[in-house]
Amino acid sequence: MSNNNFDAKNILITGCAGFIGFNLCKTLLLSKNNIIGIDNLSASYDHLIQSNRVKNLKKRNNFLFVEKNLLEISKIKTIFKQYNIDNIIHLAANVGVRESIVEPLKYVDNNIKVTNNLLELCRMYDISQFIFSSSSSVYGNNEGYLKETMAPQPISPYAVSKRSCELYGETYSYLYDINFCSLRLFTVYGPHQRPDMAISRFVNAIRQDKAIVVNGDGSTRRDFTYIDDIVDGFMRAAKKRIKFEIINLGTGKSISLSSLIKKIERYIGKKAKIIYKEGYKSDPVETLADITKAKKLLGYEPKITIDEGLKKYINWIGKSTVK
Ligand SMILES: NC(=O)c1ccc[n+]([C@@H]2O[C@H](COP(=O)([O-])OP(=O)(O)OC[C@H]3O[C@@H](n4cnc5c(N)ncnc54)[C@H](O)[C@@H]3O)[C@@H](O)[C@H]2O)c1
Repeated sequence: MSNNNFDAKNILITGCAGFIGFNLCKTLLLSKNNIIGIDNLSASYDHLIQSNRVKNLKKRNNFLFVEKNLLEISKIKTIFKQYNIDNIIHLAANVGVRESIVEPLKYVDNNIKVTNNLLELCRMYDISQFIFSSSSSVYGNNEGYLKETMAPQPISPYAVSKRSCELYGETYSYLYDINFCSLRLFTVYGPHQRPDMAISRFVNAIRQDKAIVVNGDGSTRRDFTYIDDIVDGFMRAAKKRIKFEIINLGTGKSISLSSLIKKIERYIGKKAKIIYKEGYKSDPVETLADITKAKKLLGYEPKITIDEGLKKYINWIGKSTVK
């Protein structure tokens, strides 16, 4: 893809110190655009991981880092006053499905209120494009291929927060002509992945001969999507002006946790020690994306199979100093 295809000049990326935000910034910074990255470095994992990502991004002179909490709208407003922002890619959020059951109010603040703040700023400063990172979790216990036309069935406060943001986005798009595109991401993995996610937990534990915990009997299935395909989906969405759409970004294939562990064992060359614990009610049985719409509207075509992606990730983690 050509790097000169964007018509935006100043792109605001929230959550730039996070797993997906960091990977997206790295790719976008290869273009001529200026990236303003906002993050308050509040992810639930090691602070050093986040600060190293920011340090890495700051090496590019078309990157500006703003360490601020998006809940503080008056402080964020100064950035909108100072820079002529063309589009917003909003990734900042609290991300743990299970944690959202323990601390649901955090998800109201950092997901719903923060998105509202940004939509308000879009309205005030006449920003025409907003790309939102939603989640497959909004489908809840829907079965089979998950299609954007299905009625959402959130089964966790996290999923409710993501669905609420989509509804606010739809309303602002209608009222103020903001182009709002909600990308529903299906379990993302790859280099710089969050340490709390299944693939990183499994890979790290097996490499270190530690036991892995599987919640449920291992039959839960996920559509795991490699980070490069997700970044490509965001880049494609950023090039379009889409009035209002919800679009799945997945692979269209799912795999059970048991089969995933077998593959990881094979690629690392070691057996896993597995401890089975009770499953969570908030975890859907399966996520499996219907990606027909992404193909049609964005020309999105995921390229990395689970086997290729696991090998790439295991190779990366072997070389990385920050796990
Ligand atoms: N990783 C996945 O598999 C996945 C799947 C579906 C959706 N998503 C969505 O993609 C986005 C990015 O996820 P990720 O995996 O990179 O998570 P992450 O935790 O690595 O990144 C989120 C970032 O948001 C920042 N943040 C949170 N609240 C903030 C606030 N109030 N002000 C400023 N910054 C704040 C955090 O510091 C963190 O850097 C999230 O919106 C998440 O819900 C991720």
